[in-house]
Amino acid sequence: MSGDLHSGDGDDRTSVAHAGPEHADAPEFAREMWKTRLGFVLAAVGSAVGLGNMWRFSYLTAENGGAAFVMLYVLMTAVVGIPVMLAEFTLGRGTRRSSIGALRKAGGRRWAPLGYVFVTAGILILSFYSVIAGWVTRYALAGIFTGFPADTGAYFDQISSGTPAMGFHLFFMAVTIAIVMGGVEKGIERASFIMMPALFLIIAGLAVWAATLAGSGEGYSFYLAPSFDELTNPRTLAAATSQAFFSLSLGMGAMLTFSSYLSRQESLPREAGLISFSDFGVAFVSGLVVFPVIFALGLQGAVGESTVGALFISLPGAFNAMGAIGRLVGILFFVALFIGAVTSAISLLEVVVSALIDEWRIPRKTAAVGAGAFIATLGLWPAADINALGALDAVTNYIFLPVGGLALAIFVGWLYKNSLDEVSRGVGEGFRPWLKGWLWLLRIVVPVLLVAVLFSGMGATRDALSTLFGG
Ligand code: PHE
Repeated sequence: MSGDLHSGDGDDRTSVAHAGPEHADAPEFAREMWKTRLGFVLAAVGSAVGLGNMWRFSYLTAENGGAAFVMLYVLMTAVVGIPVMLAEFTLGRGTRRSSIGALRKAGGRRWAPLGYVFVTAGILILSFYSVIAGWVTRYALAGIFTGFPADTGAYFDQISSGTPAMGFHLFFMAVTIAIVMGGVEKGIERASFIMMPALFLIIAGLAVWAATLAGSGEGYSFYLAPSFDELTNPRTLAAATSQAFFSLSLGMGAMLTFSSYLSRQESLPREAGLISFSDFGVAFVSGLVVFPVIFALGLQGAVGESTVGALFISLPGAFNAMGAIGRLVGILFFVALFIGAVTSAISLLEVVVSALIDEWRIPRKTAAVGAGAFIATLGLWPAADINALGALDAVTNYIFLPVGGLALAIFVGWLYKNSLDEVSRGVGEGFRPWLKGWLWLLRIVVPVLLVAVLFSGMGATRDALSTLFGG
């Protein structure tokens, strides 16, 4: 293996990494970098916080018994999420390459295909993520211009597939492409700086408002009082692990790519902790909005029924029933969701764009437009057919991400010689012994749990594929 990186290749923003002769296939050039540490953190939190925190988190919580799921989710964020995020950071910052180049540089040619798997996952996820984000855009605009419809079920059927869904999907992709074209600092960092604080404020404000609703108590108790038998249910464990993965944007090189633009002075464990905590915080506080609203209006029956039930049917229905204040709250809610979706989508596109830049020297603007147009075209399929959306969701969540995470954990845990060195940079003496524990989590615990996700997801993936192709 050729994982011998040079430790001293400088921290200044214009520095050029020096590759040894064994990397002659990857000529060096000046790469972009984050302007500030906070910019990196906000962009990574932006990637993490998205539809996963509000859409997937609420329906998985409803489906898996409420608070017990939340507890397992916290545990899996700590035991699987943070270790894999650190593995991605170690590779990204250690090599200063996006996924394909990072794996080739760190692991030799045999590992480069994993980078292609990551890029493929990014393309597939964005193709359907953008369709859901298109629905979100539609709801936000409906709230602003006409108010939320009374019959949200019928409304959702109408807008969720076909021409209306395609139009909003294409609009959302155009926004994503425009930001990524701007570059790491002027596009992604700047957008995250403006959008993320706005999102935090909106969600926190809505949670305070939800506390004033009559009947919110039942929502809180469903959400916060655990039913302990769910804790030992292996399906709940697998669901919590896969949710931690999706929500933290892991297993497909997004965090790897973002960290490749990060300076060597920053402590990776500190950033991983901060990002994971913020991501959990937003999911948790979103639950403090969603559940009280739904229970206060007696809509809990519909939530766990379908993956789209809570967010696109029950909640807007509740906003409609609440009159003027409901309309205002609903608009804010969907605007926050839109922000979350945009900042996640840019990280998905950046995985592809960054690889095109690093590997083939394609100029950023061309890469962003080209990759974006390709993904937008692919996304017309899930926009036309909601079963295709379900199948893409299942295949990426239950196969691509766990397989990607498993391979990463094995590579960084067992094979990559630089992992401990790289992860210790900028870390205080007192904390260093803990990093050995990180390595063992990656080596043993993470693989076991991800294999569990693969097994438990097989049924759901088969169902989703047979609905698409067979039914
Ligand atoms: N983490 C994002 C969310 O919660 C989704 C995502 C997955 C983004 C993978 C990038 C990579 O919505």
